[in-house]
Order: sequence, then structure tokens, then C-alpha cells
Amino acid sequence: MSKKVALVTGSSKGLGKVIAQKLAESGIKVIINYSSNQEKAEEVVRDIQELGGEAIAIQADITDKEDVKRLVAVSRQTFQQPIDILVNNATGPQPELSLEEVTWEDYLDQLHFTVKAPLLLLKEVIEPMKENQWGRIINIGSEVVELGNSDFSNYVTAKSAIIGMTRSWANELGKHDITVNAVHPGFTPVERHGEVTETSAGSYIEGLPLNRLGKPEDIAYMVRFLASDEANFITGQNMNVNGGNTFGV
Ligand SMILES: NC(=O)c1ccc[n+]([C@@H]2O[C@H](COP(=O)([O-])OP(=O)(O)OC[C@H]3O[C@@H](n4cnc5c(N)ncnc54)[C@H](OP(=O)(O)O)[C@@H]3O)[C@@H](O)[C@H]2O)c1
Repeated sequence: MSKKVALVTGSSKGLGKVIAQKLAESGIKVIINYSSNQEKAEEVVRDIQELGGEAIAIQADITDKEDVKRLVAVSRQTFQQPIDILVNNATGPQPELSLEEVTWEDYLDQLHFTVKAPLLLLKEVIEPMKENQWGRIINIGSEVVELGNSDFSNYVTAKSAIIGMTRSWANELGKHDITVNAVHPGFTPVERHGEVTETSAGSYIEGLPLNRLGKPEDIAYMVRFLASDEANFITGQNMNVNGGNTFGV
């Protein structure tokens, strides 16, 4: 895997940061993409470099077509090779809204991250993947697609679209040896959740067969596996990494 290049969208913090770190530990060159948090993104790059890995930080709004084109072009120029692994991870604010409050614009806000951005990115990375007869697309979903949480239909609906999109892309790209899979995390505390304790998350934990909260590393190991050659016969799948909270769609 050491000659591959991976783009992890939204990797200045949260799950994306740890996914990028774990890919870099395997010798993969990683692009740390961020929206506004330059300092954090550069910190992730430094941490990776200190461990002997290769990384660059590139600011780009992945919901914007021109930004996406620039992001992929800068990566190509820097590493002198195309992107082999695309991890669609970035997310914006996720407001919880009742059906009385939610608007179509709220749905669109989420769809921009779960459908528009992955499509814009796919179009920029796909040709070299086809030429190389090797590629990995990994879409980060959520367990909410199975739970169907109320007061969250904007996010649940947009995340659900990932399932069909992943299967359709997998069917279409399989002939080029490009695999497309989705990883669905459960509640996995990251910086934005503040301090989460076993007590404050007690009722959620009680419902999990594994009876404990997941860590960002748990998600990252699944992504790293799907990105590897060992996963070359897996495509179109939904991988739940949530301590068994749901059993699959
Ligand atoms: N953590 C969980 O419990 C959990 C559970 C289920 C699913 N997920 C999914 O896992 C993924 C990561 O979630 P997270 O909790 O790690 O999120 P997070 O901590 O909020 O991180 C979001 C990342 O996305 C970046 N970003 C935001 N808007 C962007 C844009 N327009 N263009 C490019 N980058 C942008 C942010 O960059 P800046 O720092 O510059 O703003 C940041 O790096 C998401 O798809 C989320 O839905 C998370």
C-alpha cells in the first residue's frame, strides 16, 4: 500500500483525522482536507510527518465544484501521482430538527455532503483509477440509517442515500477493479461532542451488545482494511462499526 495516495475529506479533526493517521501509518500518502481549520489540519500533517509518514493539508470546500477540482489538482502536483483512495468523510453542522421545523434547505444542506461532494470528487478521481485498474471509494455513513432517529430526518435521509449510491457505484465500477463500500459508525465521541463519560452516554451504551463506546480508531481500522489489497473482493457493502447496535441493511 505504500505507494498509494489517499484523500480523506474533513480530516482536520474527528474521525477523518484518525482515519488519515491510520492510513499514513501503513505508508499511504494522505491529503488532509479541511474547510476552515488550517491550524488543526497542519497539526495533523506534522504529527504524521513526525512518525515518518507523508501528508499535505489542502483547504477546499468539498461541496464546491471549483474547489474540488483545485483540491485534486494540487494533490496531483504535490505527489506527482493520482488519488487511489477516496474517503468521503467530511460533514457540516448536523442540526436536530422536528418535522415541523425542518425545511427542504435543511435536507439539501446534508445532501450536499453525502451526495453532491462524493459525486464531484468521484468525477475528478475516477479516470486515473480506471487507467490503473485499481481504486477504493469509501463512504462514511452512520448507524442512523438503520435507527431512523426522530427529529433528525434531514441527516438520516441524506445518510441513507449513501447506501444506494454505494451499491450503484460498486456495480458500475467493478469492471475496473474499483471497489466502493460504506462504513457506518455508531456514536463515536470526537472533539465536537465535548466530554462524554460512561455515565452521560449510559443509556446508549446499555443498548450495545459490546457494552462500551467506540473509539475513532475502531472506524479507522475498518476504513484501512477496506482500502487495502486484502479487501479486493469486497464491494457495495455496508460495514457497521457500532458495537453491534444494529445488524445491517
Ligand atoms: N462522530 C460520530 O459519532 C459519528 C457517528 C456516525 C457517523 N459519523 C460520520 O463520520 C464523519 C465524520 O464525523 P465527525 O464526527 O468526525 O465530524 P467532525 O469532527 O465535525 O469533523 C468534520 C470535518 O469535516 C470538515 N468540513 C466541514 N465542512 C467542510 C467542507 N465544506 N469541506 C471540507 N471539509 C469540511 C471539518 O473541517 P474544519 O475543521 O476546517 O471545519 C472537519 O475536518 C461524518 O460523515 C459523520 O456524519 C460520525
